[in-house]
Amino acid sequence: MQSNTRWNNNLAFLLAATGSAVGLGNIWGFPYKAGENGGGLFVLLYIFFVILLGLPVFMAEVAIGKIGKKDPVSAMINTAEKTNSTKNWRVVGYLGILSNLFIGGYYAVIAGLVINYGFISASGFIGKDPTVIYDTEISSFLEMTFWFLLFLALTGFVLARGIEKGIESSMRILMPTLFFLIILMVGYGAYRGDMSAALSYLFSWKAEQFSAATMQAAIGQAFFSLSIGMGTLMAFGYYMPKEQKVPGASSIVVTADTSVALLAGLAIFPLVFAFPFLDPNAGTELVFKTMSTAFAELGAIGQFVGPLFYLLLAVAALSSMISILEPSVLWVQERMPTTRTRATFIVIAICIILCLISVSGFNVLKDFKVGSLENPFEMMKYIADDFLLLLGGTGISAFVGWRLSKIIDLEKLGFKSKLLFSAWIFILRWVSPLFLMVIWVLGNLERIFFIKFF
Ligand code: PHE
Repeated sequence: MQSNTRWNNNLAFLLAATGSAVGLGNIWGFPYKAGENGGGLFVLLYIFFVILLGLPVFMAEVAIGKIGKKDPVSAMINTAEKTNSTKNWRVVGYLGILSNLFIGGYYAVIAGLVINYGFISASGFIGKDPTVIYDTEISSFLEMTFWFLLFLALTGFVLARGIEKGIESSMRILMPTLFFLIILMVGYGAYRGDMSAALSYLFSWKAEQFSAATMQAAIGQAFFSLSIGMGTLMAFGYYMPKEQKVPGASSIVVTADTSVALLAGLAIFPLVFAFPFLDPNAGTELVFKTMSTAFAELGAIGQFVGPLFYLLLAVAALSSMISILEPSVLWVQERMPTTRTRATFIVIAICIILCLISVSGFNVLKDFKVGSLENPFEMMKYIADDFLLLLGGTGISAFVGWRLSKIIDLEKLGFKSKLLFSAWIFILRWVSPLFLMVIWVLGNLERIFFIKFF
């Protein structure tokens, strides 16, 4: 059994929550989504939704963990009891556990590909075509499986060591490394690439590209990037020292996460624009095909810069993956009850099965379609990001807005102003559930039934 269920100090929460938030979503996802959705307008909408909806729901999830204690399911039951609400609110906790597994079930596959690319770029591209390399790598079921297993082994190792020795100490190394690497990559982009083209691509206002889809993409990305809706923040709130303030700590994490997303754009696009034949709209392949082509074009130095870039991605992915599986490990550990190591094994085993399904979407089952979802990998991603996370986020927001708010002690939670508290509750009651549900319904109608309104 885990003896220590608290972070050692306030910094530990900040490191762990930032480690969770800053991940593939920032460095792999944000730049390509900004690219696909018209650049500047997407970035501005993204920042707007992070502040209007992301930060309030982030704080709500941390508050549930801090007040309810224990794993996400028990935290929901405890807080429901405290507020005389039905225990059915525990569904929100179960949704979180399900999201853990489904996100883990595709996230590790991308992370595996990242590690693979680290080695590929270190060995250099002389005489090889990066586009062909990408197609060859993803076509091998066994090779992709090998890489994600390696990544999951690393994740399992950290998780099994527990909160203090595992998560806290690994974050102390991973987070400074990540910030150092991203600054280095932006610096190199400014030196060798076309920074002004990148800035105008990311920040110029392209009003003609405004659509419901842009808005959906921006909200979905904001929630995913902030790790909202799946119990991670509840677990991390549970480990929070008593005196740590929720609004202050949350604002720091949200600012760090948004800054890294923007920096990732400024690390990637200057290099993409340095070579006119590269396309900034390459979607999910941007950091693989497009960036490795840029590293190949850089010649000898590319063999050095490339692995650093993939190391940055791998570090970001590992710190997030740990946090993705933590709520499930905690739940299994308390539910059974069993040792931390055994709980980790069980969760990793389920994750492996889901990852195998995702991998098949790149090769053996790549033509297996459901609705507009192109393959099993896309399905996994859809179930997790678009279906479960937004539902979880809505539940958390409504629960804190309508139920938990009645028993919240402003000062204990860390609110200095009553006005800010009321604004927070107003957003949780009315604004975010409404936005999230409209987006959820419209998005699902479009993805599954091809029904489009805008
Ligand atoms: N926020 C992480 C990222 O941007 C992913 C994540 C989602 C982590 C949900 C934990 C919970 O990559």
